[in-house]
Amino acid sequence: MSAAASDPSYPDLDSITTVTCIGAGTIGGGWAAYFLAQGFTVRVWDPAPDAADKLNRLIEAAWPALAELDMVEGANKDAWTVHTDLAEAVAGTGFVQESAPESLELKRSLLASIDAVCDEHVVIGSSTSGYSMTEMALDAAHPERLVVGHPFNPPYLIPLVEVVGGESTAASAVDWAADFYTRIGKSVIRMDHEVPGFIANRLQEAQWREALHMIDHGEATVEQIDRSITDGPGLRWPFQGPMLTFHLAGGEGGMAHMLDHFGPSLKSPWTRLDAPELTPKLRDDVVAGCDVAAGDKSIPDLVAHRDAGIIALRRLTAGLDGAHGAALQPTSAEGTRAEPERPAPIELDPYRTEVASEWIDYNGHMSEAFYVLVFGFATNQVMDQIGLDKAHREANCTSLYTVESHIRYLDEVSLGAHLEVGAKLVSAGPKKLHLAYEMRVGGQLVATEEIIGLHVNQEQGSTAPFSDEVMERIGRIRRESPEWVGRALG
Ligand SMILES: NC(=O)c1ccc[n+]([C@@H]2O[C@H](COP(=O)([O-])OP(=O)(O)OC[C@H]3O[C@@H](n4cnc5c(N)ncnc54)[C@H](O)[C@@H]3O)[C@@H](O)[C@H]2O)c1
Repeated sequence: MSAAASDPSYPDLDSITTVTCIGAGTIGGGWAAYFLAQGFTVRVWDPAPDAADKLNRLIEAAWPALAELDMVEGANKDAWTVHTDLAEAVAGTGFVQESAPESLELKRSLLASIDAVCDEHVVIGSSTSGYSMTEMALDAAHPERLVVGHPFNPPYLIPLVEVVGGESTAASAVDWAADFYTRIGKSVIRMDHEVPGFIANRLQEAQWREALHMIDHGEATVEQIDRSITDGPGLRWPFQGPMLTFHLAGGEGGMAHMLDHFGPSLKSPWTRLDAPELTPKLRDDVVAGCDVAAGDKSIPDLVAHRDAGIIALRRLTAGLDGAHGAALQPTSAEGTRAEPERPAPIELDPYRTEVASEWIDYNGHMSEAFYVLVFGFATNQVMDQIGLDKAHREANCTSLYTVESHIRYLDEVSLGAHLEVGAKLVSAGPKKLHLAYEMRVGGQLVATEEIIGLHVNQEQGSTAPFSDEVMERIGRIRRESPEWVGRALG
């Protein structure tokens, strides 16, 4: 980065009233909505003929969420204008956020054009997801004020912005941009070095690449991959990132124990990922980084913090998933969040039956096909309990179709045995149920099943949302702990 001595002075943060968005698609439009909510007047330049319509729709959609979370008093959602002339769009602006399509050639020439018409004391940020400012700034006359301000979609809701300069960017411009984003409520990571893909995208992409490998090799389904995160590590990440998560996986010994104990067995997965050698220096750096991140919090402190967070998040996500967003009740006229009514929870009844003689095979035990039948009867009972009964199905011409199932046969079942099948709701969506069952004889676990069922309109031959009454009942069914599902799956 270039020396601070030759840096121009950038605007006083308190004096800025107008900002400019270049490109007003998903990201630029999201930025515009966020800037408006922060009380700025927003000038927009976007060559698309329908840019104003699209932006209007985006701001209308984003405004209620912004009003809940991030809005200053007096913010005006109509304080924006679209300009056809670039110089006009940046005239009198205090900051420019470029969010044009991700093409190096386009960004290089666009940033040079913005730079040519914009007051040289104004910092210009780019939303690029992957290009370095060093390569994007090559044609600009004043590259010292060009920085990357990489947001996450949607930029009006996700706080993180990664800020980094190129080789010719002044350190003071990076500082100024970091201060500006922080001032408007963003969570800023100010990076000293350009890293391909920045930080969070590098991590996301590594995970995404593995997910695609697993799908490609038939090792896991999309649903399994998504649930492996949403019902698994994803619940920890809002509170502790991947490094502190592993710090706790090492028990009382923290990251040091984690690396010393598991390091050798982790070599195989790391090698699959083209990982670096676990040198003593890398090991020590990671351990030291965890100590810094943990600050003065002990392992039990961190565990308590993590657990309290996970419980709160699970309650929230269960409410959102179940009853049409029960956790996001509208605010009352006084501006306080209305307390949601809590109807009585529904416990799913166990399904009971006796093993019939025609279910017995030549070995003298229940044949595997009849496990499927019994689990099917259990699903019928669940459907009745949530209001998807025969009358409802016939009136609406809908039914629940099983699209995936997984059975484990754990023990033999004899003629006349009394079967009890416990049912649990794992997750629910507007058109989907994920159920898990445990089949027992006299308390002994003999089989488990998980099914995914889709709600289908048989007339139209396509999936259909559950009715409000059914969703209301589903929302009242207690979700089961991941431990229960883990037990069912083994
Ligand atoms: N979508 C994401 O999840 C995401 C997340 C972070 C960063 N980004 C980055 O944000 C930038 C914009 O991505 P997006 O998803 O909003 O794309 P988008 O396609 O939704 O929007 C791009 C907008 O730029 C306009 N445009 C086209 N040519 C232009 C030009 N020469 N000058 C100015 N505007 C022009 C288009 O009309 C469109 O409105 C990219 O650099 C992308 O990498 C995207």
